[in-house]
Amino acid sequence: MLSPVLPLLLASSVAADTAVSRAEAALSALQTWYNGETGMWNTCGWWNGANCMTVLAELALVDDATWVNDTAKGVFANTYAVGPKANPYPDRHNETYYSSASKRSVDASLWLDGSYDDDAWWALAWIAAYDVTGIQEYLDTAKGIFESLSNAWPSKCGNGGIDSDYTHVYVNAVTNELFFSVAAHLANRASDRKYYIDWATKQWKWFNSSGLINENYTINDGLTNDCKNNGAALWSYNQGIVLGGLAELHRAAHNASDLPTAKKIAKAAIAALADDNNVIRESCEPDDCDANATQFKGIFIRNLKLLHSVAPDDAYAKVINASANSVWNNDRNAANNQLGVVWAGPVGQIDASTHSSAMDALVAAIE
Ligand SMILES: *[C@@H]1O[C@H](CO)[C@@H](O)[C@H](O)[C@H]1NC(C)=O
Ligand SMILES: *[C@@H]1O[C@H](CO)[C@@H](O)[C@H](O)[C@H]1NC(C)=O
Ligand SMILES: *[C@@H]1O[C@H](CO)[C@@H](O)[C@H](O)[C@H]1NC(C)=O
Ligand SMILES: *[C@@H]1O[C@H](CO)[C@@H](O)[C@H](O)[C@H]1NC(C)=O
Ligand SMILES: *[C@@H]1O[C@H](CO)[C@@H](O)[C@H](O)[C@H]1NC(C)=O
Ligand SMILES: *[C@@H]1O[C@H](CO)[C@@H](O)[C@H](O)[C@H]1NC(C)=O
Ligand SMILES: *[C@@H]1O[C@H](CO)[C@@H](O)[C@H](O)[C@H]1NC(C)=O
Repeated sequence: MLSPVLPLLLASSVAADTAVSRAEAALSALQTWYNGETGMWNTCGWWNGANCMTVLAELALVDDATWVNDTAKGVFANTYAVGPKANPYPDRHNETYYSSASKRSVDASLWLDGSYDDDAWWALAWIAAYDVTGIQEYLDTAKGIFESLSNAWPSKCGNGGIDSDYTHVYVNAVTNELFFSVAAHLANRASDRKYYIDWATKQWKWFNSSGLINENYTINDGLTNDCKNNGAALWSYNQGIVLGGLAELHRAAHNASDLPTAKKIAKAAIAALADDNNVIRESCEPDDCDANATQFKGIFIRNLKLLHSVAPDDAYAKVINASANSVWNNDRNAANNQLGVVWAGPVGQIDASTHSSAMDALVAAIE
């Protein structure tokens, strides 16, 4: 008679290949780039660092392994303390506004570099860190960043929105989607809920009528000097950030129009970005993705998952699952679990940006 113990021993001696084990392997690889002295990830830029931190937080929220939680908390504490040293342009923030910083509980200006999109990425990263830890300073940092961004309202276009940076020359999609998403996230977490719902609603109304959403319900890069859609690239992250913002706004305010709009944008995005196997692809692949574009697809899939968690749809599940499976099977260096830029494969360029972006797909695939 077979011992009932034996199969158990055999099973446990072979590491199970699950969505969680894949994401954990990706986390171990991600942390080989983490630099404790700068609080950033070597081989990728400042705003990409905010996204490395966010994907780490997203994993900690769905994985109950103690080492993952501890890794996340250790990174948040260290990056909070030393990260501002890596800010490329620490002086490009509104001095008038921050002269009253002593009245604020935290100095959010440390995270501002004059590119309002970069600033907003750090706001979302500290919101994610707050979700994992409940540490109020992290949420207050995000609130401070939001306050400084709200000083840039309105742009020259349509009496609303904000410009892409402190030079105030370009009104683009990413910055305005992020401003919207930060407000919507804060509405579900900060005590002054109504204040953030009002900002998110106001920003969404502006965005929806700004011309950034084109006739196909996909979103172009920005507006021309005379405030018309400039027809520039359909970057994947610009199809994604708005989905997460609408999902959060729906959670906060239950406006009946939010989810149908999000669904239209999500379906149009999938039609534009997914290949025949439902794997998300960036137009710059395989060889022309710059140090920003290498980050985009993960942001899309992270936000598609957030929408899926509020308004589930088989089409979203298929894309998330297929992208994650393809990342693992076709876009991974099996020797060290580092993940490359082309999710459909072959691996190609690898750095902390391509890796953290692909890791977003692995994390999104966790049930
Ligand atoms: C992770 O750490 C936080 C903060 O210390 C704690 O509240 C939470 O329960 C931990 N989660 C897990 C899964 O260990
Ligand atoms: C800076 O902040 C002050 C105070 O909130 C505001 O009045 C001013 O318009 C801001 N300046 C810029 C350039 O954003
Ligand atoms: C619901 O959303 C629409 C579109 O953004 C907006 O016009 C309307 O004012 C919102 N309703 C409420 C109660 O906020
Ligand atoms: C968005 O704008 C379109 C017109 O471009 C309008 O038909 C639609 O009702 C608006 N949706 C929301 C949610 O405001
Ligand atoms: C909308 O899609 C059609 C068909 O793919 C394409 O010809 C057209 O250029 C698209 N419009 C925009 C603004 O992207
Ligand atoms: C990436 O974006 C930043 C602004 O966030 C910009 O300053 C930089 O030039 C971009 N890098 C590349 C390689 O395009
Ligand atoms: C997701 O992928 C796994 C393979 O990793 C497969 O077994 C499963 O059926 C897929 N689920 C869906 C909903 O496509």
